[in-house]
Amino acid sequence: MKKVAILTSGGDAPGMNAAIRAITLQALHFNWQVIGFNAGYNGLLNKDYQLLDSYSVNDIIRYGGTILKSARCSAMKTPEGPILAAKVLAELNIDCLFVVGGDGSFRGACAIAPHYKGNIIGLPGTIDNDVNGTDQTIGFATAIDTAIDAIDKIRDTANAFERIFVVEVMGRDCGFIAIESAIACGAEQVICKEIIDNETSFINRLLSAIKQSVSENSRQSYVIVLAEHALSMSAHALSELIATRCNIDCRAAILGYIQRGGSPVAEDRILATQLGIAAVNLALENQKMVMVGKRNGKLVTVPLAETNLKNEQNKQLIQRLNQFNFNLSGRINQH
Ligand code: F6P
Repeated sequence: MKKVAILTSGGDAPGMNAAIRAITLQALHFNWQVIGFNAGYNGLLNKDYQLLDSYSVNDIIRYGGTILKSARCSAMKTPEGPILAAKVLAELNIDCLFVVGGDGSFRGACAIAPHYKGNIIGLPGTIDNDVNGTDQTIGFATAIDTAIDAIDKIRDTANAFERIFVVEVMGRDCGFIAIESAIACGAEQVICKEIIDNETSFINRLLSAIKQSVSENSRQSYVIVLAEHALSMSAHALSELIATRCNIDCRAAILGYIQRGGSPVAEDRILATQLGIAAVNLALENQKMVMVGKRNGKLVTVPLAETNLKNEQNKQLIQRLNQFNFNLSGRINQH
């Protein structure tokens, strides 16, 4: 009989509970013992864990957040942290650790690996969709739906006042949430790091596009979806700049943490369930240090060490922009 452990780490994402449930049920199916570390790597370092059985994961699939709690763990960035983590895993006789998180969480896993005889398997869980090796991360689909719902509501008031809105969405340093929600909401502009070569000229192009649009049709609203951290200025500073330079009413709205919460949509529940089952099957096959993801509809494995390669992600993002005819200033080509 194997003994396995699960932890959820980094920014929580809707669907993490579905992943915990799938891993637990599949592991129990093989008669393995399952424990869950509380609050990410902190629980591992402090030996703070709970036994997981079918009762513990009953009816959690529909809830956001994570029953195991999550955290960012600064100790894992020190040389001692990963060594201690490996020691605890060995002491508790853990054969395999399942890490549900983003690239930071997988960096932690890679740091433990040289000191640990057991296995670590990753499942991509973050709203940001910034993990290399999977088309979609657990939580991304729900975050997009939440952002769309909020932006649609902002559009109503923007229409009523014929205003410009800068809506900031999350994504850390990655523009996927911005691009997908901009496409789905019919935003006039999207701004993310990946499409900015030079910020000053980018902003100048943006301002001319807005001026032109306003002169062509002053009775319309105008929505700009801004990825957080894309610019050196804040969403509020950008909206003030637009208001002053275009001589028009402009407001900023920061969507923030609502994007991380809520009941996971079907896509996230199903993805998390598929990845959870696949992860346990990989542990059974004794596959080492991989993340399980989904590409072009098929389950794939990627070495954990390659999950933070940004080039592949950027290529996908630019392809996505091109598919929908955003030009470089981010404006959607209407023709
Ligand atoms: O990684 C998920 C995420 O929500 C990012 O989109 C955001 O930049 C970050 O986490 C916020 O982190 P914290 O919860 O530490 O404020």
